[in-house]
Amino acid sequence: MVPEPVILDVDPGHDDAIAMMLACGAPELDVCAITSVAGNVSLEKTTRNALKVLSFVGRTDVPVGAGAAAPLARVLRTAEHIHGESGLDGADLPEPVLVPDGRDAVRLMADVVGESPEPVTLIPVGPLTNVANFLEEHPRLRQNIRRVVLMGGSIGPGNVTPAAEFNVYVDPEAARVVFESGLPTTMVGLDVTREATAGPEELERLRSLGRAGEVAAGLATYYYARAYRRTYGLAAPPIHDAVAVAAVVEPAILQTRSMRVDVECEGVLTRGETVCDVYGVTGGSPNAEVAVGLDREAFFEILFRSLEEI
Ligand code: BDR
Ligand code: CA
Repeated sequence: MVPEPVILDVDPGHDDAIAMMLACGAPELDVCAITSVAGNVSLEKTTRNALKVLSFVGRTDVPVGAGAAAPLARVLRTAEHIHGESGLDGADLPEPVLVPDGRDAVRLMADVVGESPEPVTLIPVGPLTNVANFLEEHPRLRQNIRRVVLMGGSIGPGNVTPAAEFNVYVDPEAARVVFESGLPTTMVGLDVTREATAGPEELERLRSLGRAGEVAAGLATYYYARAYRRTYGLAAPPIHDAVAVAAVVEPAILQTRSMRVDVECEGVLTRGETVCDVYGVTGGSPNAEVAVGLDREAFFEILFRSLEEI
């Protein structure tokens, strides 16, 4: 089996950190680069957190390119209410030994995609600013992108506003670029990621897996779990971003439907809404495979076996 080359674009973030660990442990994936973007917290902090996670899992061979410090056309909205001031509050990760690559996110994406003998899969799990910049600055490299599997959006309600999911809300113009890119795109939205909650059983299993599992369990408890209880009344926190990575490892964990997704950039109450044409009423051609169901058990099995590898 030749591992699938992937670039993970992240704004760690507790669930981003677990997604990164899953990607690093999964033998099905070749993590060619990590790129950081401002989102949950500032770019400086998301970059530092990405370096910490990679250092912890011993993947100092993976280049980290710092990307956009702000959305394409908006003031940055962050999520300290969920992830704390550092972006990873409550997690006990040592200082990073890895330093950022000399190349920024777009340059690094261009080099990896341009030089890869196999088409590369992009897995953005934060605001889509870096990916939009990359697609616009390097249109010819699109032909070597296999697919985009993103965590973001929702067919149903949002989480940061009643209408919008956080990643798309933060940079709706960037999300629009991605959905309109013509690339094969899978939207792993809140409709399914909110099922991926780490409850007592999953935490116990994680803790039994060794050091990566213990850290992942730590990330999914304390601060992050309390924030989800306080903000959304959830008994256990969802590991949103890891679902997108697991869906690249094994697409069958998702049930998807082809549909047209348009991103609302003008609405006052609906900024960042992913308007999903579930019934095909617009006549617009489908531009995404949208996740509508998750095999929760299969997702967690992929997470467990990947973390065990670290
Ligand atoms: C998304 O928002 C962020 O807070 C999480 O990391 C995830 O990517 C969920 O809406
Ligand atoms: Ca994220």
